[in-house]
Amino acid sequence: MVPTDAALRFVGEATWTALSGRPIATSVWQQSHEVPHVRLGQQADLILVVPATADLLARATHGIASDLLTNVLLTARCPVLLAPAMHTEMWQHPATAANVSRLRERGIVVLEPDTGRLTGTDSGPGRLPDPVQIVNAAADLLRRRPSSDLAGLRIAISGGGTRESWDPVRYLGNRSSGRQAVALARTAVSRGAEVTLVAAAMDVPAPAGVRVLRVEAAAQLEQAMVDLLPVSEVIVMAAAVADYRPEQAAPSKVKKEDAGDEVVLRLTQTSDVLARLCRMRAGRRPLIVGFAAETAGSSRELQRLAAAKLARKGCDLLVANDVGADAVFGSQENAVMILAPDGSTVEVPRSGKDAIADAIWDHVVLGLAGA
Ligand code: CTP
Repeated sequence: MVPTDAALRFVGEATWTALSGRPIATSVWQQSHEVPHVRLGQQADLILVVPATADLLARATHGIASDLLTNVLLTARCPVLLAPAMHTEMWQHPATAANVSRLRERGIVVLEPDTGRLTGTDSGPGRLPDPVQIVNAAADLLRRRPSSDLAGLRIAISGGGTRESWDPVRYLGNRSSGRQAVALARTAVSRGAEVTLVAAAMDVPAPAGVRVLRVEAAAQLEQAMVDLLPVSEVIVMAAAVADYRPEQAAPSKVKKEDAGDEVVLRLTQTSDVLARLCRMRAGRRPLIVGFAAETAGSSRELQRLAAAKLARKGCDLLVANDVGADAVFGSQENAVMILAPDGSTVEVPRSGKDAIADAIWDHVVLGLAGA
């Protein structure tokens, strides 16, 4: 137990020791022959910060090691769970919101605070989550400790939406947020892979520990993936690649006074990157995973469309989702179906994009072992 100076103002050292039945650590300088700030972090299986104040979230985001707790957070390599508690204004402040996003991108679990009575007379979001929820979240984290079943594998993932220019300032794009690709990259890294993310336009930043190649148009994405093919064991095409691009892009900005009331854009088909990668490879390596966005309406119809797409593209796994049923683009959650060429189909119920990513990697691991 590592109470901060602020915690000790509320509850004294003797009470912490008596209630926990364990010695507590309060300072980097206490028993310094044991180097507690390194030992505690290195030996922990899980770190819980309850409650996590706005100040703690800010220090954790920026790697500031100004007390024992923040030192422990910097030396820890185990899962970290933060349960915030603060006043609504502080929780909703853009600085705190940005810190929470950055911590989550790093794989740290920051629980949403409850809404209710706060200290003082105010109420709103910012109340410490229910202790049972905190314990459940901690147990869940311990259950899915990072494994290393993708160790040593070079994985190339495309994500986001391509942009096809029709003049130097305008483009045709799509609604892909890149969230699923980022979740795939993050979870692959935590399972030991060496990941290259070929990132078209995305709403979310790339996770730490990933090599990022930025691309804009379908043609650039295609070239990047073709280059990665011979040096990858697994390829995942999660990008929303434009199927059509303007036949000609104007070299200078199209002006209204020149173009008049109407502009007609002639579109021409782009190349199918996934199908090309599948044709290019020699044998079954790299293992190639495709995605399918369908407006199916029923799970039977989704399966039929996805099976046809899998056969057409020639990939080893196809992850299909129904983009008509719910908001998939930009949302934090998704429900998918994972199909293999032998006709086997597994439905992954609606879950967070990290859980979907882990399910996809589970199938990749099985696919690699089976071939
Ligand atoms: N894809 C690709 N190159 C394209 C279009 C799509 O590599 N020009 C890839 C996507 O990254 C995805 C898969 O193909 O992995 C399926 O994409 P989807 O948009 O569902 O299918 P399309 O091939 O575009 O077919 P349709 O739009 O007719 O359903």
